[in-house]
Amino acid sequence: MLELLRKLKRALVAWRECAKVRSEAARAFRYDRGQFMANAGALHLDRMAAARAEIVMGYHVLEKGLTMPRRRLGFGKGAVLHLMNLVDSFERRFGTEDRQVRHAVAVLRAYRELHRGQPDPMPRLDAFLAARGDVPAAVEPHVTRGEFFSAKDAPFPQFAASRHVCRHFAGSVPRETVESAVELALTAPSACNRQHARVHVVDDPSLRDRLFAAQGGTRGFGADADKVLVVTSDLSAVRWGWERHDCYVNGGIFVMNLCYALHYFGVAHCILHWSVSPEVDREAHEFLCIPSNEAIVQVIACGMPPDEFDVAASPRLAVSDVLAWHGGGK
Ligand SMILES: Cc1cc2nc3c(=O)[nH]c(=O)nc-3n(C[C@H](O)[C@H](O)[C@H](O)COP(=O)(O)O)c2cc1C
Repeated sequence: MLELLRKLKRALVAWRECAKVRSEAARAFRYDRGQFMANAGALHLDRMAAARAEIVMGYHVLEKGLTMPRRRLGFGKGAVLHLMNLVDSFERRFGTEDRQVRHAVAVLRAYRELHRGQPDPMPRLDAFLAARGDVPAAVEPHVTRGEFFSAKDAPFPQFAASRHVCRHFAGSVPRETVESAVELALTAPSACNRQHARVHVVDDPSLRDRLFAAQGGTRGFGADADKVLVVTSDLSAVRWGWERHDCYVNGGIFVMNLCYALHYFGVAHCILHWSVSPEVDREAHEFLCIPSNEAIVQVIACGMPPDEFDVAASPRLAVSDVLAWHGGGK
């Protein structure tokens, strides 16, 4: 009898705890939804930061095109037009001094210079650039493999500055190298050391192609990738409702560490978003046999790099753009 009462009590405590987490999670997701609707750039393109982000995405498409393996001239005409329109509109509303917007102009000039010998006239682009004659062409670095990995053993500031995604793959990454990189990535911190991250290595070309077709961000280089690392985060490690972002926060920290580790071991890699619809996410779980308790956080294409290749410049914001002091800044 006493034992039965104890069991009942334990079941009641567990039920109450689950009910609390369910209610917290429902409140938290409602809050997230409200915050998203009120602030997501996609819904508020009139705001300066959202307009700037759209321009950065626009120039990024062209930078990728400029640095892609098997680049073909004449690419991205629609993207050029779109970017010019965005820059025109931004400058009319917010002025001409924004560094990221000026980089967009620089990328457009690099695009024009690449097409200098081409028969197709580009009068609109020429007029656009003539009106912004003080902005030089962007330089997308062309590097040898040795140069790209030259800061491997350098102090952290140089090492961190040398890491870039690489969309050029020419060889197979040995299994031991993947294992060493994951071992190094495991030094990443995690909430209460719960170590949410898991890594699924896709080395079957047909699964890779299916994954990339679903993901949509690897046109022009995905088919060269030797392996794809799918980083997931185990939701089993989440302990209460307010932790609804924890799998992505902890997974994201792991991804960054893994990227540094891959760079350290001389592996070319490109981080890929996993911003997909629920249907695509469910389908990928199925064909990759990833259990449903693991949320896919990020996908990383990798391979050994060729002897030389181009890298997108991807300039960063200034410290003053991102650093805010709350208390005087002593
Ligand atoms: C969350 C995330 C998602 C990304 N998705 C893609 C992608 O789908 N396709 C791609 O070519 N690059 C992708 N990238 C790579 C970024 O374009 C790249 O990291 C950025 O331009 C900065 O360049 P860097 O890493 O060379 O310094 C992604 C990067 C991150 C962090």
